[in-house]
Amino acid sequence: LDNGLARTPPMGWLDWERFRCNVDCVNDPDNCISEKLFMQMADIIVAEGYKDVGYEYVCIDDCWLAESRDEHGRLMADPERFPSGIKALADYMHTRGLKLGIYEDFGQTTCDKYPGSEFFLQQDAQTFADWGVDLLKLDACNLNAADNDYGFPIMSFYLNQTGRPILFSCDWAVYQYYDNMSIDYAAVAKYCNIWRNYHDMQDSWDSVMNTVEYFGTNQGGFQQHVGPGSFSDPDMLIVGDFGLSYDQQRVHMGMWAMLAAPLIMSNDLRHIDPKSKALLQNRRVLAINQDPLGHPATRVTPQGFNSQTLSLWTKPLIKPQGSFAVAIVNKDIQGTPTRFSIRLADLNLSNNSGYNLTEVFDGLAMGVYSISKPINISVNPTGIVLFQAVPV
Ligand code: DGJ
Repeated sequence: LDNGLARTPPMGWLDWERFRCNVDCVNDPDNCISEKLFMQMADIIVAEGYKDVGYEYVCIDDCWLAESRDEHGRLMADPERFPSGIKALADYMHTRGLKLGIYEDFGQTTCDKYPGSEFFLQQDAQTFADWGVDLLKLDACNLNAADNDYGFPIMSFYLNQTGRPILFSCDWAVYQYYDNMSIDYAAVAKYCNIWRNYHDMQDSWDSVMNTVEYFGTNQGGFQQHVGPGSFSDPDMLIVGDFGLSYDQQRVHMGMWAMLAAPLIMSNDLRHIDPKSKALLQNRRVLAINQDPLGHPATRVTPQGFNSQTLSLWTKPLIKPQGSFAVAIVNKDIQGTPTRFSIRLADLNLSNNSGYNLTEVFDGLAMGVYSISKPINISVNPTGIVLFQAVPV
């Protein structure tokens, strides 16, 4: 979507994967969906370095609404859980140099049965703008997925008409995917800044790898529409949650960087392992994600490599010009690192004078390689090797 926003993949935090529709503020006041939760996350994002490395959108998902609209048909936040209202929460974010994201659904109700935007699209777009909202995630539960093809463009138009820059995050293609429909990704990319197209992330390795492989298998279908202003969204980052080992978190973080994915954390920043936090804030990994070329990685299948166990990816970068990020993911669960050698030529890198390689997570120099010189790799079970290749 050419509205000046999301020129690189947006970064932020969203409650859904980690906190779901927990509305029980009586028994679980620290984890329920309430203004307090978003304020606490915002405070940590600012105080603990997340904002400094680029995380800026603090986003609310489903279950923030009151059960009905007000007497003028306007949306209302749940008065018990958001007593100050959404405008005050947006102000809270803006004062801290952050942005506020909100959620609605194009159907009559949201997935969790709160009032939806059907028949209210224009009014709701204006309400969000009046409140100072900076991002809208529009879901598509409780309607016919075929209708998405007109609903999302209309909402995109109404958001634009408000005159307020509002990043548009669309759950459009994903419902058409669920229904096995053909998807017009060119339209999705035209009307949306970020767009989901696959299952919700769950807190598991399977969820991470199924998503990565889906993106690899379908790269011709939708990844060709990715670029500045419009990024396909493999869903939230679960780094720092319960389900992944440290190596698996590195795969998750590394591959979301490679895919030029929005980096929207869904975790509890109040209780996070220092190693997970360091991963989320690793500037070299983030630079790959935020490279201004905005080009997602493609999966490569060099001859002689077993794609059942290895998933190999290259992402062209513009900083520096002509360089690439290379990721090698070991899907094997056998308990010893997999060792092999590979040549840059196997990965279709073609600079005849070779490349200077740097491992990305730790920033360690690997040396200069011609495209035919074997690189010895050792990659942990469910682990990743990630390096940057700069032409010499
Ligand atoms: C389905 C979406 O895919 C999720 O990301 C989340 O927004 C839920 N709906 C909320 O109900």
